Amino acid sequence: MEPKETVCVTGGSGFIGSHVVRLLLQRGYTVHATVQHLDDEAETKHLESMDGAQDRLKLFQIDLLDFDSILAAVHGVSGILHIASPCIVDLVRDPERELIEPAVKGTINVLRAAKESGVKRVVVTSSISSMVPNPGWPADVVMDEECWTDLEYCKQNGIWYPASKTMAEKAAWEFARENGLDVVVINPGTVMGPIIPSGINASMAMFRRLLEGCSDQYMNFFIGPVHVEDVALAHILLYENPAASGRHLCIESICHWSDFASKAAELYPEYKIPSFPKDTQPGVLRAQNPSKKLIALGMSFIPMEQIIKDAVESLKSKAYI
Ligand SMILES: NC(=O)c1ccc[n+]([C@@H]2O[C@H](COP(=O)([O-])OP(=O)(O)OC[C@H]3O[C@@H](n4cnc5c(N)ncnc54)[C@H](OP(=O)(O)O)[C@@H]3O)[C@@H](O)[C@H]2O)c1
Repeated sequence: MEPKETVCVTGGSGFIGSHVVRLLLQRGYTVHATVQHLDDEAETKHLESMDGAQDRLKLFQIDLLDFDSILAAVHGVSGILHIASPCIVDLVRDPERELIEPAVKGTINVLRAAKESGVKRVVVTSSISSMVPNPGWPADVVMDEECWTDLEYCKQNGIWYPASKTMAEKAAWEFARENGLDVVVINPGTVMGPIIPSGINASMAMFRRLLEGCSDQYMNFFIGPVHVEDVALAHILLYENPAASGRHLCIESICHWSDFASKAAELYPEYKIPSFPKDTQPGVLRAQNPSKKLIALGMSFIPMEQIIKDAVESLKSKAYI
């Protein structure tokens, strides 16, 4: 295999990050992956055991609020896939400290480090949580990259994770504009599929709760699923493709939690999945193949049925269900 350039993956230890690291190694890249605690095997072991890791993976300990730790991790890399960000959709006690500060300041620190190191492109992992909730979006228009989360609505209703992702993405665009840095953004939907790390992340925990019978409708957090392997591939496509620019919705379909739940119930009747009202995401217009910009770059998305099967089989194999 042709040796490729070196890229840094922040949040390399996480659910999405570890799939990105694995795919980069498979494709011949040398990878600087960041973790929060180098001495914690739960963050490092699954990365160190990947094919190619021995020769082409280097781990760095960073804290998103510590600029110097990030600068060391990006030294000598051509590109950065900035995935690290706290991902808490349940109750938070101190939203500024737990979510907003690491998301926003962390993103700016990564972009500052990219600029100082002469990095050629940064792919920033935003979310559909920078697109919804947006109660003002017209109910007869399919959501796309023009759609932005209503920050005031989030603040008034104490919905802090979407607030943190929206503020971080806006800060990234402002920094890129002011500093002439090449930034592209990916906005994944609810990411599910095989789990590589030893722990469970927020979106797979949300799916597990559904299988356990939880009737939460995730009104402000869901507009459709996407397979974690597609999300990993899309990150690399956006990094490699100079024509890519702006935001990129990354989702198999736009649907309601009720659609997703009923498909899961049909495939796995042995779990006590509740039935939901038809429209659990009011104002969200359903759509097939909504990620037009990524499809134009060559992506074809793994269908919902397979996302559910891969997620359930992984939860089973890790004894989460
Ligand atoms: N999962 C989804 O459905 C989804 C959808 C759209 C967007 N996203 C975005 O995708 C990214 C990864 O999410 P995920 O689902 O893979 O969650 P995850 O497994 O919780 O990964 C989050 C990563 O961020 C790192 N991190 C968090 N706070 C940090 C800090 N202060 N300093 C350094 N690193 C820090 C974590 O490190 P540790 O492992 O050491 O804790 C972890 O590697 C996030 O930006 C999230 O907002 C996720």
